[in-house]
Amino acid sequence: MQKEIPGEERFKVRRLEISDKSKGFIELLQQLSVCDSVPEEEFRTRFEELKSHGDDHVICVIEDDQSGKIIATGSVFVEKKFLRNCAKVGHIEDVVVDSSARGLKLGQKIVSSLTDHARCVGCYKVILDCSVDNIGFYEKCGFKQKEIQMARYFDQ
Ligand SMILES: CC(C)(COP(=O)(O)OP(=O)(O)OC[C@H]1O[C@@H](n2cnc3c(N)ncnc32)[C@H](O)[C@@H]1OP(=O)(O)O)[C@@H](O)C(=O)NCCC(=O)NCCS
Repeated sequence: MQKEIPGEERFKVRRLEISDKSKGFIELLQQLSVCDSVPEEEFRTRFEELKSHGDDHVICVIEDDQSGKIIATGSVFVEKKFLRNCAKVGHIEDVVVDSSARGLKLGQKIVSSLTDHARCVGCYKVILDCSVDNIGFYEKCGFKQKEIQMARYFDQ
């Protein structure tokens, strides 16, 4: 029988690793939005590209040590501005928790880790877009509703 691992150890936040593709990372993103399967080579190229940005673009994951699956993820990238004495702003994106693991505070753990990262690298604020359904979740994570999102999509 498998040994019970305490929650703290079982659900640690860490940075995305290249091997996470085979641990269900893409399938997890598919629970958030359109995400076709990504060929191995394309994944490697994008992974290396993002990695080259160092602390300015971080993808966090939680791996379930018991199943070996990636069950939560989120990312933050750091925008460098001229405004406010060359300030920095963190943008949180692509937060998703596997449907089987929701309600365990993993979403909050991911958002808190991304927020801490933004603070640590000197951002004066961290912002994100979300659906009306998720306002309550982000409020629990310490966010406040502000402004309005506008978008323009391109034919592809
Ligand atoms: C939204 C999501 C990330 C939340 O993750 P989760 O791990 O289930 O949430 P947590 O367990 O960390 O919840 C933390 C708190 O927020 C509350 N909460 C969670 N989702 C909520 C929602 N949609 N509305 C209001 N409150 C919510 C929880 O009840 C909990 O409150 P508590 O501290 O009083 O117990 C997850 O439901 C998900 O992946 N949804 C699908 C993808 C998605 O919509 N991602 C967001 C993109 S912007």
